[in-house]
Parts: sequence; C-alpha cells; structure tokens
Amino acid sequence: MPIRRQFDERAIEAPDIRLGRVEPQYVRVLTRLLAAHALAEKLTAQGYQRVLSTIDDPELRATAEKNLEEENRHAALVYRILSELGVSETAADRMMITARRSPSFDAPRYFAEQAAGELDLAMASVSLDMTGLIMIGVNYKESSYAPHCRAAEIILEEEAEHDMFGAAELGAAVRRFGTEAVDRSLREWLPRAVNFFGPPGSGFTYDCLRFGLKSKDNQELAELFLVMLEKRLTKTGLQMPALAPGYPCALA
Ligand SMILES: [Fe+2]
Ligand SMILES: [Fe+2]
Repeated sequence: MPIRRQFDERAIEAPDIRLGRVEPQYVRVLTRLLAAHALAEKLTAQGYQRVLSTIDDPELRATAEKNLEEENRHAALVYRILSELGVSETAADRMMITARRSPSFDAPRYFAEQAAGELDLAMASVSLDMTGLIMIGVNYKESSYAPHCRAAEIILEEEAEHDMFGAAELGAAVRRFGTEAVDRSLREWLPRAVNFFGPPGSGFTYDCLRFGLKSKDNQELAELFLVMLEKRLTKTGLQMPALAPGYPCALA
C-alpha cells in the first residue's frame, strides 16, 4: 500500500522550520537527506577532478571540466540549503561518517578515490549521473521542502546533459577499448551504481516518503534505472550483467 504523504510538494519553506512550525522529526530526516545529497554531489565533483588528471583527450577534458564545475555548484547549492537550517558543511559531512562507508556510497567514493582513465569516466557517468538524474528527477523535484525542489530544478537540467555525455561516452569507450573490456568494467561498476539508490524499505526512506521528501522507495528507482540501462546497453551492443537478488546488490 502506498504511504500517504503528510505534506504536498513545496509545502514547507525555510522560515517554517526556523520558526518551529514543523515537527522536529521532519527537520532531522530532511537534514540527513540533504547531507547525503550534498556529499554525493561533492564526491562526484572530486571524481571528475581526479579523472581529469588521467585523461589527455582535449574534447573529453573540456566536458569533464564543465561537469566538474557543475558538480561543485550542485554541492554548493545543497550545502547552502543546509546552512539556512543552521547546519554547516562540516557538521553535515560529520553526519555522514558512517553512511559514507556504506554500500550506498560505494560508487561516489570509488569515483572520488580510485577512478582513472576514460573507461572509469564512462562508468562513473552511468553510475552517478544517470542514477542522480533519476533520484533528483523522481524524488527531489517533488519534495515537500521547497528549497530542495528549486535546487533540484537547476541540478536536473545539468544532470540531463551529464547523462547524455555518459551515454555518448559508453559508445566511445566500446570503440576505443572493445566490447569485452567495457562489459568487464560494467560488471565491476553496476553493483555500485545500483547500491547508490540505498537499501530497500528502510525506516529512513519510510520517513522520507511520509514527509513527502521522496516519492518512491529506493528499490523502485533502482528497478527503473536497470530497465533504462538495459535498453542503453542493448543499443550499444553491451551485455547487461546478471544481478543477484537482495541488498547490497552483487553480481549473480
Ligand atoms: Fe550533480
Ligand atoms: Fe552529474
């Protein structure tokens, strides 16, 4: 049975929270959600920064630089929303110390800390831009917290471009490295990408759904991603890796 939303889209503004018009649990859940969103944007920016030092192609570098700048802006936008709630970037990141090491942060963490070269860049785009586009487009665009809605609108347009770049990069990677190498890399990255949506049916997501901070459960989004990805892979002549059921996601 779908969970009933307590608040409509854009029902709450920052002053409602500052003036104590909203229950404390809403503020706690919102703060945590924003802290996770901000950190994901920040790690993605760090990943683009990292791969830039490992690629030479001038055209690819130009796009990666543009994406880096935009990811930095996305992070800044979300941290600014947090600061309006009295939460500094340091405090927000501190809330994420455990989450950062969890499977849901595997993809951004790997991109920020270990990714190198064009193939990883293409995989990271599938794992972070395509997934980010789904999360932001489906969940945050209809958030009950109006400032998050407005940020999502801005981010969404740029993420759509990042995703188009990612789709083109997938084809370019096949031409450059061959189908087998890209399939291998996909098998390595896909579980991380799926885990980025977070665990299914968690208490935290239940709260997000009832407060109208998310519209869909993580699992529904992950399934949508897999359907979209399979279409994209088939078009590119790539194989969809078989996944085992359950969370965290792993290869079958
Ligand atoms: Fe972003
Ligand atoms: Fe992006």
